[in-house]
Amino acid sequence: MSRFPEGFLWGGATSANQIEGAWDVGGKGPSVPDMCTDGTKEHPKRITTSIEPETLYPTHEAIDYYHRFEEDIALFAEMGFKVYRMSINWTRLFPTGEEEVPMESGLEFYDRVFACCRAHNIEPMVTLSHYEMPYHLVEKYNGWAGRELIDLFFRYATCLLDRYHESVRYWLTFNEINTAVNRLGCVMQVGCAKGYEGPINEVPDRPQERFQALHHQFVASARVVAYGHEHYPGLQFGNMVSMAVMYPLTCNPADVLLAQRRTRNSSWFCSDVQVRGTYPSYARSLFAERGVELVLEPGDEEALRAGTVDFFSLSYYMSFCVTADTGAARAKGNFAVGAVNPYLKTSEWGWQIDPDGLRYALNEIWGRYQIPIWVVENGLGAVDKVEPDGSIHDAYRIEYLRAHIEAMAGAIEDGVDLRGFTPWAPIDLVSASTGEMRKRYGFVYVDKHDDGTGTLARSRKDSFYWYQRVIATNGEELG
Ligand code: BG6
Repeated sequence: MSRFPEGFLWGGATSANQIEGAWDVGGKGPSVPDMCTDGTKEHPKRITTSIEPETLYPTHEAIDYYHRFEEDIALFAEMGFKVYRMSINWTRLFPTGEEEVPMESGLEFYDRVFACCRAHNIEPMVTLSHYEMPYHLVEKYNGWAGRELIDLFFRYATCLLDRYHESVRYWLTFNEINTAVNRLGCVMQVGCAKGYEGPINEVPDRPQERFQALHHQFVASARVVAYGHEHYPGLQFGNMVSMAVMYPLTCNPADVLLAQRRTRNSSWFCSDVQVRGTYPSYARSLFAERGVELVLEPGDEEALRAGTVDFFSLSYYMSFCVTADTGAARAKGNFAVGAVNPYLKTSEWGWQIDPDGLRYALNEIWGRYQIPIWVVENGLGAVDKVEPDGSIHDAYRIEYLRAHIEAMAGAIEDGVDLRGFTPWAPIDLVSASTGEMRKRYGFVYVDKHDDGTGTLARSRKDSFYWYQRVIATNGEELG
């Protein structure tokens, strides 16, 4: 008997802004990522207030999925995908976010994408907002700090639900919503960067704005979920949390308490609101420590209660240690930070690799909420070498994923109700944190480089064939 349940949904995950390109085609408006330059792990990408002529903006072409999605989805089908997690570019439908009606050209594009998935028997799972929002809304409202965004997002999201409720069953509202709890989510998650130009991690941080913006996302998410449940009862909605497990560095009770507090604030704060429909009691101290006084409008609390999610989804890449010792060595991460764990190896980008942490996280989530769980992101960003014959031997990626799939099997054995796995990413794409291409995740290689050159040709890596076998055997043959 397989360790994964029958009907377990294997697939892969991408986001619109990291793959589509065609950033101004068909009247599409500029989004926040379209205003971000390239970068590296040493030199963070910058956000600019206007497009600089000689500067590279990696999302403008990305991997040109907009013109090549049929080839890409056919490759996903060849691997045996049952599900494909993707997102919609808000600005392809509503270029500024303020139009009354969506652009038909944008809707037609996604019509064709969903039809292509269906033709290959692939179930689409759609993220409504994946680090993408109209840049106009940043300029005018300081992003999600403006309450106006709730209605604007509601219009965008319900237009999608009305159009696609027959083609798309699984919906996620906001990708990695909890990144807004920390300063690093300021630009990418909530767009609180009005008038700011500079490295995205150095944006002036105003916790009052950031948490107010997050509150607006909670209300928007809940209103969309409630609308979906009321009008289309067959649909299922999930939250999406970036899960970075935090261990106490030592058994010093000060470390243990601090790890508990960080875990609550970073990992659970958002899911407590979105799964339970109300702010947790510890929100009081979290706000007080940061000088935040949240403004709630009448009806907000009812809205949160009425729009709780059906399932929990998470991304998982790494774990950290937490310590009260301020001198401890720091580990790198995408939107989270913490101390080095001496037992773990790291990726080339310094992310600590910890498959056991995934099993631990899944057990913790299940223990806290008892709702179905999806791992909608997990994967290894690495530099790949193309051999003279065109082959790519990415054994390191296979090893990473094998260990994490084993961890998921372990969690299922522990009793966790895990429904699906969509690794990041089935195809090479633009890195969200650095804007690089050389940080590759794909099973499919894309001939595109950091300087913007490349033929954009697709080719299969060793991991392509390995994952094909994993899916065909429902996770039994991990090589
Ligand atoms: C998650 C995001 O943070 O991690 C993705 O949801 C992102 O958009 C992925 O690409 C990997 O991070 P990075 O920075 O290596 O692209």
